[in-house]
Amino acid sequence: MSESDPLEQRVSDLLQRLTLAEKVSLCAGKSLFKTQGVPRLGIAPMKMTDGPRGIAFHSALHRCTAFPSGIAQAASWNESLLQVYGEAVGDEASSVGARVLLGPAINITRTPLNGRTFEYLSEDPYLNARLAVPIIRGIQQRGVAACVKHLAVNNQETNRVRLDAKVSEQALEESYLPAFKAAVETGGAWSVMAAYNALNGFPCCESEYLLQHKLRNEWGFRGFVVSDWFAARRTSSAQACLRAGLNLEMPGKGSRLKARNLRNAVAAGQLTEAELDGRVADLLRVMALTGHLDNTPSAGRRNTPAHQQLARTMAEESFTLLKNRDAVLPLAPRCGLRIALLGPKLASRNCFPLWGGSAGVWPPYEVTPLAGMRRENKGRYTFVRSAEEADVAVVFAGLSHRPGLDSEGVDRKALALPGAQDALIRKTAAVNPNTVVVLLCGAPVAMPWLNEVAAVMMAWYPGVEGGSAIARVLFGDAEPGGRLPVTFPARLADSPAHRSLRTFPGENNVVHYDEACFVGYRYADYAGIAPLFPFGHGLTYTRFAFSDLLCELGADDEVLRISCQLTNTGQRAGSEVAQLYIGSPVESCPPQALKGFVKVRLAPGERRRLDFEVPLDQLAHYDEISASWVRTAGDYRVHVGRSSRDVQLSAAISLDDW
Ligand code: BGC
Repeated sequence: MSESDPLEQRVSDLLQRLTLAEKVSLCAGKSLFKTQGVPRLGIAPMKMTDGPRGIAFHSALHRCTAFPSGIAQAASWNESLLQVYGEAVGDEASSVGARVLLGPAINITRTPLNGRTFEYLSEDPYLNARLAVPIIRGIQQRGVAACVKHLAVNNQETNRVRLDAKVSEQALEESYLPAFKAAVETGGAWSVMAAYNALNGFPCCESEYLLQHKLRNEWGFRGFVVSDWFAARRTSSAQACLRAGLNLEMPGKGSRLKARNLRNAVAAGQLTEAELDGRVADLLRVMALTGHLDNTPSAGRRNTPAHQQLARTMAEESFTLLKNRDAVLPLAPRCGLRIALLGPKLASRNCFPLWGGSAGVWPPYEVTPLAGMRRENKGRYTFVRSAEEADVAVVFAGLSHRPGLDSEGVDRKALALPGAQDALIRKTAAVNPNTVVVLLCGAPVAMPWLNEVAAVMMAWYPGVEGGSAIARVLFGDAEPGGRLPVTFPARLADSPAHRSLRTFPGENNVVHYDEACFVGYRYADYAGIAPLFPFGHGLTYTRFAFSDLLCELGADDEVLRISCQLTNTGQRAGSEVAQLYIGSPVESCPPQALKGFVKVRLAPGERRRLDFEVPLDQLAHYDEISASWVRTAGDYRVHVGRSSRDVQLSAAISLDDW
């Protein structure tokens, strides 16, 4: 989007033709998911739709594909797949006439109890950024604006509309903002949603620091910022919001940015017309980019066989095998193997049209685990109905989108699985040593029975084809491709946000991020805590060997070049996610941080050289005193491995001359 662009000329031409009344009308919505139009100039109301796993509200009328939820997307660690997903969901949005898709949702998983953990991607800023970018690019390639949400630090649902989050500048720079920065700078996002909460005393919808200083001045954002729904109500005035950088208030009824307020502000000299023009121009620009100004008809399609196939592939790529004693999985493909299928999630649907908030999707159908097991069986296995008489018992357990579980507006109270699920798993394991637990949920849960069962697989919320994907992976027709994008803590107290009421859920409407950047594995590593399952963990059906680590400074001294060999030493084809962590000599920094990863699929015996490039800027840390990024000389530790705790190769590199 450059100034000399014909698009910019078009925007400024249109701006000159708009009256003041028309301009102010563009800054507030008309209805729940539509902006106001300007009929005189042929500008129609612009439609927006949720959300981060498929079309939400509008799928009530036009059924749409439910894809695996955000955390499952992240568990795939697969950028190219997520670009294809972005294109598909962009098409689905366009097929319901939407110009803006309200997603991806990229807030950091600060606490495993956040009700929206299932929607978000990861606890790690680097992974978050790498995965958000292809989703945004995919959506926008289909002519739909991605609306990246929620800027910023909307990390809990409890009290979300009144909360003021106190976060240090270092934590913002190093943890909470990098994915938004990448979304704008690298992903080229056309739209951003400002969060409900306040940040350091200012409601995000009127935070000049966020919307002007970071977003526009530093990252070069030229699209529009929309308030989260009804979030602008808590702001001080229309002019403060516009000045700070908010372009549009949704849904707009009885709104802060209503026409009268803005007209009065201009009349009183509290807002110049030039300032208003700037905000309106941002909106017009995105309307032009999405074809809205030309009334381009919707081109996308929904529920195509390709989208349904993609949903299944994404599910398989996301399934994370946490434990697999004696290779009980995949189930032996011998005729007549008796399998017992149990548990409350066996025949349950997960796409939640009625519960869970703005990430729900009404799909045309959904393959439950039971339906999938039957469909994919192909005569190979016998389903018995009790665990005692079975060779293998599979228990389907997990959460749901009922308020208080994986749902918007409320956080969970505890890590435990609800109801009698733990008891059911224990009872099953007591009578059948080959008990496999498949968890359908969008966040870490406690597993007090872990030592008693043979295998555990996270299936997350796997979308319309989830049941088929689960069956294919259990039967060995597909591989479990996922790795944890969040730490699974052994106890809630091991999660640093949960050390006091001050840090979660906050007191007197204020929450303090005392742990700063020490979130997830960064805290576990620093405090020497053994997680239940570490960040990055996930087993495969084959075996991989890492060797030949090389680590050197690039010729220009600005890039660290790291390479190693990866060999599939097992009997099956499979994928490994090789993860690169770097430890800094700076004592105040977390012991190590993810700085690279690559997902590779190798045939048995196949060997591949893996290359990582880390720009040295990525090793800098944010110094609050000088308010700048600082590079520190010293010995940096380089680890390549299968998870944050499963290091396969290590080296040290001295950056003394840095
Ligand atoms: C959610 C947003 C969503 C919006 C519109 C809000 O409650 O926080 O993520 O996009 O509603 O449905």
